[in-house]
Amino acid sequence: MKEATITENIYYIGVDDTDIDLFESQYPVPDGISYNSYLIMDDKIAIMDTVDRRKSTDWWNNIERLLGDRTPDYLIVQHMEPDHTGTIAEAVERYPKLQVVASARAVQMLPQFFGATDFTSRTIAVKEGDTLNLGQHTLQFMMAPMVHWPEVMTTYEQTERIIFSADAFGTFGALGSTLICNGTDNVPAWPDEARRYYYNICGKYGAPVQTLLKKLATLNINIICPLHGPVLTADPSHYINLYDQWSRYEAETEGILIAFATIHGGTRHTAHHMADLLRDKGASEVTLIELSRCDMSMAVAEAFRHKRLIVAASSYDASVFPPMYDFLHHLQLKGYQKRRVGIIENGSWAPTAGRVMKEMLEKMKDLDIVTPIVTIRSTLKPTDYPNMETLADAILA
Ligand code: FEO
Repeated sequence: MKEATITENIYYIGVDDTDIDLFESQYPVPDGISYNSYLIMDDKIAIMDTVDRRKSTDWWNNIERLLGDRTPDYLIVQHMEPDHTGTIAEAVERYPKLQVVASARAVQMLPQFFGATDFTSRTIAVKEGDTLNLGQHTLQFMMAPMVHWPEVMTTYEQTERIIFSADAFGTFGALGSTLICNGTDNVPAWPDEARRYYYNICGKYGAPVQTLLKKLATLNINIICPLHGPVLTADPSHYINLYDQWSRYEAETEGILIAFATIHGGTRHTAHHMADLLRDKGASEVTLIELSRCDMSMAVAEAFRHKRLIVAASSYDASVFPPMYDFLHHLQLKGYQKRRVGIIENGSWAPTAGRVMKEMLEKMKDLDIVTPIVTIRSTLKPTDYPNMETLADAILA
């Protein structure tokens, strides 16, 4: 999108990317993604982050339309990941007096990404609580290591009470013409896409996110300006409370996710039978996901959203069918924990899926792995029903 006003002197200068297929080369983004950047016009001019170099031309156009014949004084770099730093070197070369303001760790990283650029005398390393006065506006820097890289910092603008939150509170999806999420459901995709973004990008880092939230709790915040997705206004506490829940690994529903990986359909039929059984027993929400046919990042987010999980998979090469292996590996990477889990395996001659799934689950934290592990031989049969009932009762207990 083009530049737009957030407050009288603070502008959005980010860009949409709707050409990209996979964000970070792994996450499908059918609605694109935005690389957010902001401009604070004051006695001194500060640019808040740059954008992915894929869209540098659009970003430069936004800046030049706003700046006219003025030049920026500071480039605040909150995060060194390339989706936000594509034009740092170009900006330093274009504006000889521009100072790059960043955490010490980020300053160290600059040559890793921009070895051909001389940053000597061009950087200001800031630490927790440091401030930078621009005139009417004052920036206060708050370190946020591992949200989502170690060099990350966030920035609180004290006058207008705006938190520039780096990747935190970001979401997938380009902005189009909707820059502001105003708390009145004007961006209906926000919760699902923000959750998918959170658990897949920051999921492993719940403790660092909690540390950041404790800092934010000391501030009066009017607006959240993340590095992806809409600017959040109206009721910032709504989004902060969601982040608190997510980063404590708390489920949003008592319901059950049944994630299954089937080769010829026997396990799919069994998973659907279990779903019917659970609904008959009064389960409030039962969600089925076929892992071969579902975006992995959505499956991960759904696993975190539910309090309970049943994994059902075929045996394969004396292990477990790879889509399930990938799913459990992703859950382990993202810090999956504090859930109740049941297991169904299928094996036509030597079932191995149950053992492998259990071993993978046992590496995760605070999981209540219920019994029995249900073993299906090729297809579900009436003789399997008692075990299915027992597992259903155990997962609902
Ligand atoms: Fe949007 Fe961690 O970069």
